[in-house]
Order: sequence, then structure tokens, then C-alpha cells
Amino acid sequence: MLLRFSHLQLNSTDRDAMRKAGKFNAQLMDFLRPHVREGVDTGSINKLVHEYTLDHCHCPATLNYHGFPKSCCTSVNEVICHGIPGDYILKSGDIVNVDITSIVDGWFGDQSETFLIGEVSDDARGVTQCALDCLYLGIDSLQPNGRVSDIGDAIVREAQRLGYSVVREYVGHGLGTQFHQDPSIPHYPNRQARSERIPPGICFTIEPMINVGTRQTVLDKSDQWTVRTRDGKHSAQFEHTVLMTEQGPEILTTTKDGPFRGHKF
Ligand code: MF3
Ligand code: CO
Ligand code: CO
Repeated sequence: MLLRFSHLQLNSTDRDAMRKAGKFNAQLMDFLRPHVREGVDTGSINKLVHEYTLDHCHCPATLNYHGFPKSCCTSVNEVICHGIPGDYILKSGDIVNVDITSIVDGWFGDQSETFLIGEVSDDARGVTQCALDCLYLGIDSLQPNGRVSDIGDAIVREAQRLGYSVVREYVGHGLGTQFHQDPSIPHYPNRQARSERIPPGICFTIEPMINVGTRQTVLDKSDQWTVRTRDGKHSAQFEHTVLMTEQGPEILTTTKDGPFRGHKF
């Protein structure tokens, strides 16, 4: 079991390539952050992501990925993930997750943040806080050769404590020269995750999606991308790319401006 992911263990050159990809992606998030505010439409956020990435001679990974039409995902309020940027104008009270993924010299960086727009409800703020805390609790649960299920155990414990639910259909993933590869990183414990361990050199994302109400999801019938909560209540998410090292987890997508571990919304 320990060797299941040995073919994905990165050497020091490859680790540096992933560090570079994560660093660029984080720099893009820092550039974007001040633009995500009331009155801005999600299509303009996409345009900023697209142009900044091309200006730096890198590639937006989501564009044309299995037919996805844009260079980032923008998921507003009850949208859990994979929202397609368009003409929706952000208004006070909204929460929006912006998920950006870049390809830098063939290597991927992937991260997302949920932004509070103007004055938001207690539920919207609470679920956003919980999603950020769950991301860091997941990261802090990691140790070299530790179990994948340690992540889900930590996340479910925190979500349950606050009466929120954890999405199951969409999971974190291995990341390297491909967008979605092994290992699968569920944000809840299951039998497979209990049997799998993460050795040094493995790169992956943690990206918990936390719901105010039910964990059940609905895929949009017309666009076949947008994933919503079944009950229409809010959902929030944060994502980092993480490299397991001999010393423990290293976050590759740390931004200059945060939000960092322990941030209070
Ligand atoms: N960035 C998302 C993730 O964290 C995946 C988006 S794929 C897309 O895995 F096709 F919906 F863009
Ligand atoms: Co991801
Ligand atoms: Co992502």
C-alpha cells in the first residue's frame, strides 16, 4: 500500500518545477484579489485571469479542459464549484469562489478562495470561515507517509462541530504534469483513503467544499458544469496545492496577501 503512488514521487528538480507553478498561480491570485468586488461581473474576472496568465507566457488550465469554456471557475452563493464566468454582476451579500489553475512549463498550480462581497449573512460568513479553517485543518493533519483519511477526518470533525456538511462528489486530487491524477483526496474519510498513504514527493490539492445545509449536489442540466447545493443554501471552498516533503507538508500556493491560517472573516 505504501508504494501505490511511488511512480508519482517527484525528485528535487520536479519539486522545484511544482514550486514555480504554485508560486505563479499564487501571484495571479494576489493580482486578482482587489478586482473581486461589488459591481464586477464574473466574465471580467475571467478576462483578468486569462490575460495575466498569457502576459506571463503561461497557460490557463481550465480553458477547454474537457470542454470547459473559460480560464477560471467563479462559483457564487449556492454554487459549489465549476461555475462558468459570464455576465453575472457581483452584489453586496454574495460570496464567490474563484478557482484558478495555471500550467507553468508543463507543471500545474491550482488554488481557490471564497470572497465575501460587501455585507454578507451570518450563514455566508460562517460557512466561508469553516471552509478556510477546514483547509488548514486538513493540511495540518498531514505527515510524511500519513493516511489520506487523516485529511477527511479533520475536515468532517470541524464541519460537524458547526452543523455544516462536507461535499463528497468532488474531491482534491494529485497534481503534477496533469490536472487531475492520483491520489484522490476526499474531504471525508472512506475506506480507500484509510488504506492509502502519502509519501514524500507527492503533490496534491486539498479543496474542501462546505455547505450550510445538505451535502447533496445538483449538476446544472443546461451547461453540464455548474454544481449547486440541492437545497439552494450557501457553499464555500478554499484550495491549496500541497507538496509532501520528508519534513511534512509544504503549501505551494501561498499568496502574499492571504487569507492565511487563522484568518477571521
Ligand atoms: N480547478 C478545479 C479543481 O480544483 C477544476 C476545474 S475543472 C473545470 O480541481 F473544468 F471545471 F474548470
Ligand atoms: Co483542484
Ligand atoms: Co482548483
